[in-house]
Amino acid sequence: MDFELKTLTPARICSEKCDALIVLIPSDMRSGTDPVSKLAALAIKSGDLESKAGKLLSAYRPQGIAATRVLLAGAGDGSAKSVRTAVNAAMATLKTTNVRRVLLSLGGLPQADQDTVRAAVLACADTGYAYSTTKSKPTEQKLLRVLIGMPASVAGHAGFDKGVGLVKGLALAREWANRPANHATPSLLAQAAKELGKLPGIKVEVLGPKEVAKLGMGAFMAVARGSEEPLRFIVLRYGGGPRTDAPVVLIGKGITFDTGGISIKPAAEMDEMKFDMSGAASVLGTFRALAELRPALNVVGLIPACENMPDGRAIKPGDVVTSMSGQTIEILNTDAEGRLVLCDALTYAERLKPRAVVDIATLTGACMIALGGVRSGMFSSDDALAQSLAAAGDSALDLCWRMPLDDEYADGLKTNFADVANVAGRAGGAITAAKFLQRFAGKFPWAHLDIAGTAWKGGAAKGATGRPVPLLVDFLLGQVPPAKKVPVKPRTAKKAARSPT
Ligand code: BES
Ligand code: MN
Ligand code: ZN
Repeated sequence: MDFELKTLTPARICSEKCDALIVLIPSDMRSGTDPVSKLAALAIKSGDLESKAGKLLSAYRPQGIAATRVLLAGAGDGSAKSVRTAVNAAMATLKTTNVRRVLLSLGGLPQADQDTVRAAVLACADTGYAYSTTKSKPTEQKLLRVLIGMPASVAGHAGFDKGVGLVKGLALAREWANRPANHATPSLLAQAAKELGKLPGIKVEVLGPKEVAKLGMGAFMAVARGSEEPLRFIVLRYGGGPRTDAPVVLIGKGITFDTGGISIKPAAEMDEMKFDMSGAASVLGTFRALAELRPALNVVGLIPACENMPDGRAIKPGDVVTSMSGQTIEILNTDAEGRLVLCDALTYAERLKPRAVVDIATLTGACMIALGGVRSGMFSSDDALAQSLAAAGDSALDLCWRMPLDDEYADGLKTNFADVANVAGRAGGAITAAKFLQRFAGKFPWAHLDIAGTAWKGGAAKGATGRPVPLLVDFLLGQVPPAKKVPVKPRTAKKAARSPT
């Protein structure tokens, strides 16, 4: 799907040829004398259209309007969230039609700020996304072009550019998370990262079993032991700032399939454990977006990738391994493997002298139970970092919720046979997992995002959401020192973003 932003007056909205014109109608819509504004005013007055977000009214070849179809879409209070609801509703009705070119008019909104315009772009792209890699015929994509029309606005342009960059990152994250485990092995994930290394500003290094053994990543290696697929430790570097600037480090859990190991999972829905590398996919997606947006900061991505399988060589409950940090770990449950691969990545991060480290993981079923699919769990020992992540989630409509880290929660991790056990009891499972990770994150500001509930959807719309790429990208853009903030202007959208009326 191609996106274009144009500065369009109400009159131009009416005369622009397209297959479908979507007009967002907030409850306090500006009045106008053009045919679209008149139509909208009439529809509202007669009670045939409600301005509540998600309500729709459609027309075919109405007089004075060049578009073949017109969709009036209630946009409530005109907030980013309402705009997302409205665009989702309108685009959904076009999905099964032959509409190829859509004009989305934001002109009626009292104020289309960055977040609103970005929300509109992302909602359009969401409708256009379809997974097809392992289907014999690709899903046909009729909707090809979306033109966003609005009054001239600097914030609008910035929001549009962010949106278009994010669309690419989200698509990559969803693609890799959706791929079945036999099409997304640790080696294939590493190849995907290498592809990103061809983009400007990004460098990628991939370590295999030998190098990882040399680093002493005993916890990571312990998880990979049960699989025929060799592990990969992927290091991505985005260099947008001066060399001497400390990087922000993102660590993505990259379990390409989680059977649970010897502590094997039940068969029902075990297929969903192909999504257990969604954290890794979100790191790849974030780097894809960074390559578009080119912010002036340094970011390093770390992905410990392997399968968690039962096997003659697999780790057994009760086994004790030595992590890269030197701490010994008693593996009481081989299904608590995520924290084992992450703890060595956290120790590796120390050598990068990071400003902050954020790990992203489908870590616990308990987090899914606690927060459902609405908010990701966020844990941090650093208030400022927690605040930035929460704010990024709010503005990007990719919400998270801060969870506690009281030391008492770590009591259950005590064991007689090692420095720490990898599981505590069932109670507070998301928090005890975070407490385990915290032991390895003492040397830098750290946060952990548990995305077990938010990374994918079940049911009929089963598939990866691409979350928390929007949160991460907004967080990173917020980390650019003010003086160095360069206008966000990706090459691809430059021409479109500046095209005159
Ligand atoms: N990948 C799972 C967590 C998970 C489960 C995510 C279901 C999404 C849906 C993780 O590796 C795991 O198995 N965690 C265990 C931890 C337990 C053994 C302490 C869990 O949550 O059951
Ligand atoms: Mn597991
Ligand atoms: Zn797992």
